[in-house]
Amino acid sequence: MSKDCIKIADDYTGYALSNFCVPRHYEEDLENVLIPWGLIQDRTERLARDIFQDIRDEPLTALCVLKGGYRFYTDLLDKLTTLNRFHASVSVQLHVDFIRLKSYENDDSTGDIRVIGGDNLSNLRGHNVLVVEDIIDTGRTMSRLLAILQKYEPKSVKVASLLVKRRPDSTGYRPDYCGFEVPDKFVVGYALDYNEYFRDLNHICVINDTGKAKYKIQQNSH
Ligand code: HPA
Ligand code: MG
Repeated sequence: MSKDCIKIADDYTGYALSNFCVPRHYEEDLENVLIPWGLIQDRTERLARDIFQDIRDEPLTALCVLKGGYRFYTDLLDKLTTLNRFHASVSVQLHVDFIRLKSYENDDSTGDIRVIGGDNLSNLRGHNVLVVEDIIDTGRTMSRLLAILQKYEPKSVKVASLLVKRRPDSTGYRPDYCGFEVPDKFVVGYALDYNEYFRDLNHICVINDTGKAKYKIQQNSH
């Protein structure tokens, strides 16, 4: 069952950078703080509780989609293991695995994807799988990943995504567990990157034009 998401409105301006601690090296590159780290933690705690209550007493294989999902994944699993410690009568045994997705073509939104890394996916047969992702953009990547995973005949597959972007070209895909629905802006931090930068930022922030220009991939001039 798809649960409610915290919806962040299009005209929401977030917090000024000066209200929070942001690394000196990114101060000029960000528009605002959209979701402070503390709020991510509080929301993740609730998602962990929802997952725990839904799965109760069955083992779960938590599959992290790298690299963007790694911080959400570790915080979510920390909170699930805390629930396991605090509940005497129910518990969810956790298995961990990590994958990366590569697109066959350059263009992520049209190309097919391929799963790299991780254990042999045949290990998923008969398991309850929870895919943990940082952001659902158009929804195409996730639909393709789910189609791939289904071939390995897991017992069930659910998806937890910290963010879902409101995009005009969305396929309409909704994850089972969603942290925040965000405006169609490029967000970075908390492991979400722009060309591999900003993963070392705690808060989820909107990148500005200075940041986009500074960390743009340089085209070869010859
Ligand atoms: N930020 C980082 N990675 C992304 C985004 C975003 O806004 N959308 C899709 N991948
Ligand atoms: Mg991702």
